Amino acid sequence: MEKAMTPLFGIGYRRPYREALLARDLPEDFVLEIMGSHFFSNPLDLAPLVERFPVVLHEVMGSLGTEPPGTFDDAWLERMKKVVQIAKPLFVTEHLAFTRSASGADLGHLCPLWMTHASKDALVVRVKKLQDALGVRVLLENIAWPFVIPNADYDEASFLRAICEETGAGILLDVSNVIANAKNFGFDAQKWLDSFPVGHVEQVHLAGSQLHRGFWVDSHDSRVDASSYLLLDHLAKTKVPRAVIIERDGAYPPLEELLLEVARARSICSPSENDSRHNLSNQEVRMP
Ligand SMILES: [Fe+2]
Repeated sequence: MEKAMTPLFGIGYRRPYREALLARDLPEDFVLEIMGSHFFSNPLDLAPLVERFPVVLHEVMGSLGTEPPGTFDDAWLERMKKVVQIAKPLFVTEHLAFTRSASGADLGHLCPLWMTHASKDALVVRVKKLQDALGVRVLLENIAWPFVIPNADYDEASFLRAICEETGAGILLDVSNVIANAKNFGFDAQKWLDSFPVGHVEQVHLAGSQLHRGFWVDSHDSRVDASSYLLLDHLAKTKVPRAVIIERDGAYPPLEELLLEVARARSICSPSENDSRHNLSNQEVRMP
């Protein structure tokens, strides 16, 4: 097994949890994932969180797949720089997708890329520019595919591998997106992971999904399902990521419930803590 630095475990920060997070004792390995755009209007609101916790920054507005390559929404980039200066994140993460047209229209959704050689070259330029501008390593996140664009030059695994090798970027592997894709498009998630460049995986997302009109959607409004934990366990046999984040974007439970999910992820990635890594059918996880 490749051993990374001490792994961190935490949740995606959302405003309803602010007071509870700042008030309670949390494990030393607790990490917050913060949406940069949530703090664009007042970056100084980050300060109390940054004083307490290590931080990874997540974004959905970077639209790395937008053409032409090498250009950004300048206002977005300037705001990100201010947030990065205060947050001092371990990583900045964005999706392998586009959310904005070349004319600047917000598409309102993570749109998949046509994984061609030209698209790869464009991504390489953008990722390098983003890393240079922010001074932080970028991780690219795999999305839940609404559809797959045919006649591509790469599959997702080889596309990510090529970009990482050319830029020094890493991967944010959304394990639950892999599960959703496997169910929607009919493949074996563990076999898929076996051909994935897991050596580049630095961070993991876990989240709940919902079945909507026969299609699994990454709704982030329910508990992480057992199949996602099983795939995390499969990953951890090869690569323990630097950070594992529970994502929740709706039907917010008490913080304690999310911390139970964090504890379960921790136990999977730290098999010496208890036996739950080898007993994943057991839904009960004790807080450390
Ligand atoms: Fe995610």
